[in-house]
Amino acid sequence: MESRRNFTSDNVTAMAPEVLAAIMAANTDVAASYGSDTYTGRLQEILFRVFEREIAVFPVATGTAANALALSQLTPPFGAIYCYEAAHVMTDECGAPELYTGGAKLIGLPGVSGRIKAKQVADAIAYAREMGVHHVRPGCVSITQATEWGAIYRPSEIKAIADVVHANGMHLHMDGARFANALVTLDCSPAEATWKLGVDALSLGATKNGAMSAEAVVFFDPALARDFEYRRKRAGHLWSKLRFMSCQLIACFEADLWMRNAQHANAMTLRLAEGLQQIEGVRLIHPAEANELFVQMPESMVRDLESAGFGFYRWALCDVPAPSVAIRLVTAFDTNEADVDAFVAHAARGKVNG
Ligand SMILES: Cc1ncc(COP(=O)(O)O)c(C=O)c1O
Repeated sequence: MESRRNFTSDNVTAMAPEVLAAIMAANTDVAASYGSDTYTGRLQEILFRVFEREIAVFPVATGTAANALALSQLTPPFGAIYCYEAAHVMTDECGAPELYTGGAKLIGLPGVSGRIKAKQVADAIAYAREMGVHHVRPGCVSITQATEWGAIYRPSEIKAIADVVHANGMHLHMDGARFANALVTLDCSPAEATWKLGVDALSLGATKNGAMSAEAVVFFDPALARDFEYRRKRAGHLWSKLRFMSCQLIACFEADLWMRNAQHANAMTLRLAEGLQQIEGVRLIHPAEANELFVQMPESMVRDLESAGFGFYRWALCDVPAPSVAIRLVTAFDTNEADVDAFVAHAARGKVNG
């Protein structure tokens, strides 16, 4: 692996070589367009196997489109979408869920490391019911697995939310931009982490885990996907040369590439966490359960790492006492152990110097 002292995001990576090879292999001859190609058909069969049931699968190019389109299928324009108050759908999608749903309202709930709880959802729904027609009607809940803070919902937490959601005639959506990273930590099957707990729709991410640009909207009950292909087309996400997206997803999910890549990414985050925790003045803000790490550090140490050329973001959303600051470090399938060790060693030196 090449050295790259860049921990800014799992979007800064190149493609995994297997994904590039799959695109090259698909780059021959002609293929039917708009998803009628053999790649897209094969992808469906592969994901049936992965999730151990017949599902409806729709490749789209971005996570934002996957989330916003899935939510639009699950919520009417006068509906409420409950989510964590700093969820990606809430803060990082430029209003796409509101646009695609035709005006549904996202209602943010406070959470711990990005996780909301069944009781909060139940209370929010009860409040909406009490307000009647004056309030948006409860439509669905969206949870992020792994969370925006690199933490993991435990299966029992998801099941509890799903039970509340279904008891109220609603649906449960999972933003799985980092689903593979969550699975590695949970050590259970994709089915056990989703529909067996009551998840109705999943934005299944691949871009952050080695693909060039490929995600899939998955509905575990195909009946729930009724007319979804019109939404995707109208949103401009039905690629005419869809084989080039489907082949990326095949490369990820046909064998174990997605799990291998996520295992490596998570291991690199753990290595960072273990190393950084030994340094005086450094504290993990959230548990290291996937491939993102939020760390409190003295300002002088952060400046030192920046001047040494390490890439990462200062994370203003974390409330840490001055003169410390919060930073975000993200690892990926191509993160090099030596770069992780260099980061930790440099931080440790920064402490001595600072
Ligand atoms: C939690 C989460 N969901 C979804 C996405 C997908 O976003 P994009 O539209 O950039 O692919 C991201 C990317 O940062 C994310 O972190």
